[in-house]
Amino acid sequence: MIKGKFITLEGGEGSGKSTCIKYIKAWLESQNIEYIITREPGGTPLAEEIRNMILSHREEKIHDETELLLMFAARTQHIKEKIKPAIDAGKWVISDRFVDSSYVYQGAARGGDLKKIDQLAEWVLQGCKPDKTLLFDVPVDIGLSRVEKRAQSDRLDDEPVVFHQMVRDAFLAREKTSNHYCLIDASQPIENVNLAVKQELEKLKGLS
Ligand code: TMP
Repeated sequence: MIKGKFITLEGGEGSGKSTCIKYIKAWLESQNIEYIITREPGGTPLAEEIRNMILSHREEKIHDETELLLMFAARTQHIKEKIKPAIDAGKWVISDRFVDSSYVYQGAARGGDLKKIDQLAEWVLQGCKPDKTLLFDVPVDIGLSRVEKRAQSDRLDDEPVVFHQMVRDAFLAREKTSNHYCLIDASQPIENVNLAVKQELEKLKGLS
């Protein structure tokens, strides 16, 4: 059995990942590729419960270490229950966020210890690494103005602008040093964003 491809979508708040997933879904169907679409934190019933714990507003402070460990607890469940079985069955897995978000949010923006994140990633991922990470990049003010139009914002959306700027800068810095990244200018019209994504999908399928 040929393994499926693993594609992750990353970016700051309001970067248009979720809108683009609809396009990716249509492209995969047009190519008769078997796939699953999932997200982090979340993707399984238990991991979705953890997601609610992490993202909901609450009186008790969530400590940075707790936030990091909850992300990796959800990720462990997600990989074992959903991502790995699908890849092994030859399906393409499209995940709205994955481990890069932990390096950027809990590492760069929260100031977490990157070596500890490396250790957690090595333990939990067990080689389950994305074939391609599509980084949707928009200036922070554009992203946050999109989030403001949503009915509800979560605990991380409501972090100050300086936090979101650190997130953007950290993603761009990771893109420069990683060879699995593809940078997408998500401030362009949606048709251009979709075209850039299509070109990457075609490369992955070996069509171009
Ligand atoms: P989203 O579904 O709107 O992208 O929300 C998920 C939030 O969780 C987003 O603010 C990024 C954050 N997050 C982390 O901080 N660390 C992680 O490892 C992941 C997967 C997400």
